[in-house]
Amino acid sequence: MKRLGRYSVFVVCWFICAAAGMSAAADARKIILDTDPGADDAIAILLALNSPELDVKALTVVAGNVVVEQGVKNALKLVSLAGRCEVPVARGASRPLVQKLVTAEFFHGANGLGNVELSAPACAADPRFAPDLILELIHQYPHEITLVPVGPLTNIALALRKDPSIVGLVKEVVLMGGSIAGGNATAAAEANIYNDPEAARAVFEAGWPLTMVGLNVTEKTLFTRADRNRLARSQGRENDFAVRVLDFLVDRASGLGAGGTPMHDPLAVGAVIDRSLITTRDMWVEVETRGEFTRGETVASRHNSSDRKVWRGDHYSIDGIEKVEPNVHVAVESDARRFIDLFISRLAGK
Ligand code: RIB
Ligand code: CA
Repeated sequence: MKRLGRYSVFVVCWFICAAAGMSAAADARKIILDTDPGADDAIAILLALNSPELDVKALTVVAGNVVVEQGVKNALKLVSLAGRCEVPVARGASRPLVQKLVTAEFFHGANGLGNVELSAPACAADPRFAPDLILELIHQYPHEITLVPVGPLTNIALALRKDPSIVGLVKEVVLMGGSIAGGNATAAAEANIYNDPEAARAVFEAGWPLTMVGLNVTEKTLFTRADRNRLARSQGRENDFAVRVLDFLVDRASGLGAGGTPMHDPLAVGAVIDRSLITTRDMWVEVETRGEFTRGETVASRHNSSDRKVWRGDHYSIDGIEKVEPNVHVAVESDARRFIDLFISRLAGK
C-alpha cells in the first residue's frame, strides 16, 4: 500500500509539473525575429531560443550586415546549433527598397558570425518569402505576434505594403534601431535605419504599437571581457559558440576604444523577455529620408510639440505651440548589468 502511495504521489507531481510546463509554454510570448545575422544578431537569436518567455514562431532574414544568402545560411546554422529545426527560417529582401545595400563584414566578420565557423546546417530553409511568412503568422495568431526586427526594416515594410491590415493585428513591434543621441553608420543615422530609410519611415508611420531600442541605450549596454570570462566558465555548444563570437565583438570594440561590445540586438530581445530592463518615453519620431547629412536619422521630438508660426506681412512669428501625438515608445534607459546577468544565465551551459 505504501509503495502504491509513493507511486501515486509521483504521478500527481508529474501531472502538476507537466501542466505547469504546458501553461508556461502557452503563456510564452509569440515573436517573429527579423534579422540580418550578423554577430550580435546571432547572440540575440540564441538568447531568444533559450528563453522560455518567448515562443519564436520564425526567423525571417533580411539583407543588411551580410548579403541575404549568407544571412539565411547563418540563421540555419544557428537553429541547427540550438537543435531547433522546428523554427522556420525564411529568406527575405536581398536589397533595400530604394538605395543600394551596404553590408558590414568589417564589424561582423567575413562570414557574418565573427569568423567563427559552424558545421553545415541540419535544418532546411522554409520556402516562403519572409514578408509572406510574416503576414501568414500574424493572421494565424491575431493580436499575439510581437515583431522583433533587429536589422534593416525592408521585410517589415514589404509586409506592410502588401497587407496594411496587419497594423491592427500585431501585438507590438519592438525593434533594435535608431537613436536619439547620434548615429553609428553616420553622425546622424543608426545602421539599421541607415540601410533602408524608406522602409523605416513606413514602419515608424504605420501607427502600430512601436518600441524603439536605439543606440542611446544599446551603447550603454556593454558586454565586457570580464563578462566573457564569466560565460566561458561554463561549457556547451551554444555557450562555447557565443563566447567565440563575443571574443570577436569585444576585440573589435576594444580596438575602437570601447570598454565592451554594445549588445544592440540582444537588448531588443531582452526588452521583450522582461520589459523592466528598459525605461521608455513616448515621443513623436520621424525618419529623415532626404537630408544630405542626416538621411536615416530618427528625429525625435522629446517635447512632442512644435512651434506654431503665423505670417506677419514680411516675416513669421511664433504665436504658440502645436502638440504632436507620440508614435514611439523610445527606450531612454536600460538596466545594463541586470540584462547582461540574464543573458549569461540563459546561455550558460547550453
Ligand atoms: O546599429 C546596430 C545594428 O546594426 C545591429 O542590428 C547590428 O546587427 C547591425 O545590424
Ligand atoms: Ca542586426
